Amino acid sequence: MSATHQLGKVVVTGKIPQPGLDLLIGADHTVVSWDDETAIGRDELLRRVVGADVIVSLLTEKIDAELLDAAGPQLRAVCNVAVGYNNIDVPACRERGVIATNTPGVLTDATADIAMALVLMTTRRLAEGERLIRSREPWQWGMFMMLGTGLQGARLGLVGMGQIGTALARRAKSFGMTIGYSNRRPVDPAIADELDAEYLSLDELLATSDVVSLHCPYSPETHHLIGPAQLTSMRNTAFLINTARGPVVDEAALVAALERGELAGAGLDVFEKEPEVHHGLLDRDDVVLIPHLGSATVETRTAMATLAARNALAILAGQGPVTPIG
Ligand code: DGY
Repeated sequence: MSATHQLGKVVVTGKIPQPGLDLLIGADHTVVSWDDETAIGRDELLRRVVGADVIVSLLTEKIDAELLDAAGPQLRAVCNVAVGYNNIDVPACRERGVIATNTPGVLTDATADIAMALVLMTTRRLAEGERLIRSREPWQWGMFMMLGTGLQGARLGLVGMGQIGTALARRAKSFGMTIGYSNRRPVDPAIADELDAEYLSLDELLATSDVVSLHCPYSPETHHLIGPAQLTSMRNTAFLINTARGPVVDEAALVAALERGELAGAGLDVFEKEPEVHHGLLDRDDVVLIPHLGSATVETRTAMATLAARNALAILAGQGPVTPIG
């Protein structure tokens, strides 16, 4: 044990893969974990965090000023088991000197895979076809049956070109798509060259893409980034894919735009009022809906849990966090 290493109390707010938990337990800290797959209730969480030195948090828990204060002034860190951190009030953490960390990098491929799967599912009508088979209705091969849209030569427009956007661009390029992106700033020229990716304004991107995929973090600036005007400006043959955060899209406006035929379909992994899904989406055949599965592989969730645990241990050992937010 180093001179600065003091045993602490780590509160884990939900069930995480065992290797992550084992890392914490193996370091001899007092680990209080919620081992049920159902999210811990707010009252129970407020009780459990009292005296915590580190909170290892899941997306389902809101880490706000009330919770930080309930933990107490000894709290040193909140380590999210997710790359997105819109469940954490980061300014409230900063005001209290609490370090916040997330898990970038380890879920890039899994999330890009799911985004590519949604691109294929929407453009090739895969969920619709599967529903047809399961309906037990008679069907037979037909020249014009369930025709989709090919990806070869189509343009993918990425809103946000961080690690996940870039990983999706690589996949899409191998399917023959061309790449456009909007981002706060242009990407490294080596990546732009590799992908032959064109830097565009959001307006240009929406007007010229065949598939628009969202990869920006959720913040007040990106709330309803895709609203009525943006949806109207898309090609009526285009598809919208969202594996980022639900509230980046105005869901009511999306339903209305689909109704009016302003776009051809959508593939959604995340929802504005998750886990609620806008009723107007549920019966539409032009929409593919999956329950926030972006990082849902055994390998990825294990890597996320162990990275969050490594952050917690580093902070408790008086070292800098491995992957701090901001
Ligand atoms: C994240 O990490 O932000 C994903 O949405 C869930 O893994």
